[in-house]
Amino acid sequence: MVEFTLPPNSRIQPGKAHKAPAGAKRVKVFKIYRYDPDSGANPRLDTFEIDLDDCGPMVLDALLKIKNEIDSTLTFRRSCREGICGSCAMNIDGSNTLSCLKPIEDIKGDVKIYPLPHMPVVKDLIPDLSIPYAQLTSIKPWLQSETPPPPDGERLQSPEDRAKLDGMWECILCFCCQTSCPSYWWNGDARYLGPAVLMAAARWIDDSRDEYAGERLDALNDPFKLYRCHTIMNCTKTCPKGLNPAKAIGDIKAKLVERLL
Ligand code: SF4
Ligand code: SF4
Ligand code: FES
Repeated sequence: MVEFTLPPNSRIQPGKAHKAPAGAKRVKVFKIYRYDPDSGANPRLDTFEIDLDDCGPMVLDALLKIKNEIDSTLTFRRSCREGICGSCAMNIDGSNTLSCLKPIEDIKGDVKIYPLPHMPVVKDLIPDLSIPYAQLTSIKPWLQSETPPPPDGERLQSPEDRAKLDGMWECILCFCCQTSCPSYWWNGDARYLGPAVLMAAARWIDDSRDEYAGERLDALNDPFKLYRCHTIMNCTKTCPKGLNPAKAIGDIKAKLVERLL
């Protein structure tokens, strides 16, 4: 039988341990992935004991506390702290989610935090998102129309047409879904667009003001870009905004079939 082993420099080593302050009564252990590719050192898992009586309720609060008070070199993205910007996406307790929306008290046992999986790591909890952003650009996520806008106002939509975008416009491009999709992992050559990018495409295909739905569908009608989705549903299960990218992908496939009838 073939045995696979990880290259030695990819093995995660035990890291530094930071004890809770004396007198702390509600101690929670955070195990956090640390990696600096420029250092040449292996990744490590650092341990931080945090007094929950002196910390905000969300995982992001604990990360900020660690960065501000214990180890300023801990590196992660965050901005809005309210589930709007999508930048604090990471793998917490085995699932991709937003650290600002994840209550610490929902996690049993130690809190294990890793970067979004299967992406190159820039540093610590920051994944390199260059490929998904390039894929997003490839679907032209902006309004395309030959008809000029009315001279005296905006392009209007009926409430019914506007409602067709519900469940898609709310996407904050955190890429939790993209990096939880096995098909995206297995097609690491970036030819499969992945659930976040495909839902962005679906959002523009369904926009009544856009006049390029046909061209958009033509561009997606490709065995790799679209049809690597095998409806495994990890994307929908993990979306921290409760969206359903798997359905959006199914809708694109259905529209391509309808064109043949
Ligand atoms: S439904 Fe499609 S996009 Fe979603 S996780 Fe499965 S294969 Fe990936
Ligand atoms: S569909 Fe959900 S998980 Fe995927 S990028 Fe959008 S908000 Fe994030
Ligand atoms: S910090 Fe903006 S979504 Fe979490």
